Amino acid sequence: MQDTERVARGLEGVVVAETRISEVDGERGRLVLRGWEVEPLSERLGFEEVCGLLWDGVVPDEARRLAIQGALGRGRAAAFGRLGSLGRALELPDAMEAVRAGLAQVSAEELGEGLEAWGGLVGAVPVIVAAWSRRRRGLDALAPDAGLGHAEDFGRMMLGELHPARARALGSYLGTVSDHGMNASTFAARVVTSTGSDAVSAVVAAVGALKGPLHGGAPGPVLDMLDAVGEPGRAESWLRAELAAGRRIMGMGHRIYRVRDPRAAALEAALGRLEAAVGASGRLPLARAVEAAALRVLDEKSPQRALRANVEFYTAVLLEAVGVPRECFAATFCVGRVVGWLAHVAEERAEGRLIRPQSRYVGPAPRGGGA
Ligand code: COA
Repeated sequence: MQDTERVARGLEGVVVAETRISEVDGERGRLVLRGWEVEPLSERLGFEEVCGLLWDGVVPDEARRLAIQGALGRGRAAAFGRLGSLGRALELPDAMEAVRAGLAQVSAEELGEGLEAWGGLVGAVPVIVAAWSRRRRGLDALAPDAGLGHAEDFGRMMLGELHPARARALGSYLGTVSDHGMNASTFAARVVTSTGSDAVSAVVAAVGALKGPLHGGAPGPVLDMLDAVGEPGRAESWLRAELAAGRRIMGMGHRIYRVRDPRAAALEAALGRLEAAVGASGRLPLARAVEAAALRVLDEKSPQRALRANVEFYTAVLLEAVGVPRECFAATFCVGRVVGWLAHVAEERAEGRLIRPQSRYVGPAPRGGGA
């Protein structure tokens, strides 16, 4: 029996794996994916290239990129073919529930292994999200176009025709959130994989973890906050009233980062590129004013604890500018993060050791005198 005196609540500070996939440096505010800082990755790599980077460890050459694009396209087409048999999954009230239920119907045995199987899983997520969203808006699902890039086709299936700059911004978003160290959903995927189970089960478990508000979060409330603030000049008084009422400022603070989340900068830059192409919506100056005011009021409230903008803050503004409906924000996160989950599935398989921690029993002592 190991040291059972100290219980590592929330496994905070516990290192559970060595990984080559991504590094989160909370003190310096740095996120590195396979040797790439998140901001250049977000700007320069398309979705298929991010898949290659995370799965193979290197940015794919043209042949490999096309192979990945083909596998994803066939995955989307196969998932679209299954939509009719999903039944209640698309009627569920929450997009994440639809993704969970839709993926749970995929047969691990039929899906197989390797690039084609991963294309099947990664391809299924946007098809389910887009169909769920359109159904909610009273619209028929749009068939995927296997010849398009994954990010562009996701945007098109959800929103209809999409300005290329919006497709690029969506691609930047999906790359930005593709992996993030040993977060809860990634850990869930690795625990399931460590039992020798299949990739479908690992991804379904990860979707369940990502659905929780402490993880997948709710960038929707950030938009609600921007709506409520309305104009930059009202930001500080509105935020002070929130804190006085005992509420948290959405999109601020992080368990690991003690400085600004580097993904916020990557998304803010993607938003700047989008606005340069399609015009400004006015949200960015408002968001920046709210962030600056939030820093002031939070520094006053908790001078010992640095609370800075996290990924959700600019996710909200960017996805709104792309046109993604608010209720699909968490599921859109999933469209990107599934790539990282699968990279971790492969890494965990290579590790080959069952994840099985211990607990300390604090229940009643055994009754009776003997066995
Ligand atoms: N607004 C106001 N106060 C905040 C805050 C926020 N966004 N985030 C943390 N704090 C305060 C807490 O009230 C607490 O203060 P106290 O010590 O006086 O009670 C202190 O900072 C530490 O909070 P704690 O809950 O221990 O931090 P954590 O590391 O567990 O929390 C988050 C991380 C992300 C859950 C938290 O910062 C939060 O709730 N943020 C808002 C929701 C959000 O943006 N979620 C998306 C995350 S990516």
